[in-house]
Amino acid sequence: MNLTFYGQASFSIELKGKTIFFDPFISPNEKANHIDVNSLKADYVLLSHGHQDHVVDAEALAKNNDATIISNYEVVSWFGAKECKGHPLNHGGKWKFDFGTVKYVNAVHSSVLPDGTYGGNPGGFVIWNDEVCFYFAGDTALTLDMKLIPMTCPKLDFAILPIGDNFTMGYDDAAIAAEFIECDNIVGCHFDTFGYIEIDHEAAIEAFKKKGKNLILPTIGNKVVL
Ligand code: NI
Ligand code: MN
Repeated sequence: MNLTFYGQASFSIELKGKTIFFDPFISPNEKANHIDVNSLKADYVLLSHGHQDHVVDAEALAKNNDATIISNYEVVSWFGAKECKGHPLNHGGKWKFDFGTVKYVNAVHSSVLPDGTYGGNPGGFVIWNDEVCFYFAGDTALTLDMKLIPMTCPKLDFAILPIGDNFTMGYDDAAIAAEFIECDNIVGCHFDTFGYIEIDHEAAIEAFKKKGKNLILPTIGNKVVL
């Protein structure tokens, strides 16, 4: 599994020979200053919601690579006005792309674009093909809607969940989310980028271990070993 972490909620993954990039927030992140956005490849850029810490490098990444932005209708329309290619989804909907099926699922959060434009409702993505199925939660609170994922999608191999608290669920709630989605391998994100979301790494890993779950804390610029 070729999954790489770029800080905050930014990840890339290779699926069926395509590079899928999630929530690019790299150029303003001091902890990611060794990464040059203009060197990054993407065939698709998936945006969970409109907040700056998820979309700030999306335009550059999409235009540099002629990539397609996949997000909710409002976010895709906003980037469409900047002449980025896009595929709009809305909650509960799915579409089969050449790398797999993408379902846009519920998140409990907010969403506004960097210039104040309404960003639609925030979401997450469940993505699957004949090799893998995983959940990228985006920014969200713990929500009972997560129980719908194992009822409506293939069995998850892993999930990327926010664990930093303050703006999203913290790791204790995320460990409950891992139970709701019936997934044992969790990659944490949305932690340590700035003061409000700094976490105790050992306590976070222990919170998951108590529930029989494995929490991986990725490091910026490196492949995630699943
Ligand atoms: Ni957010
Ligand atoms: Mn965020």
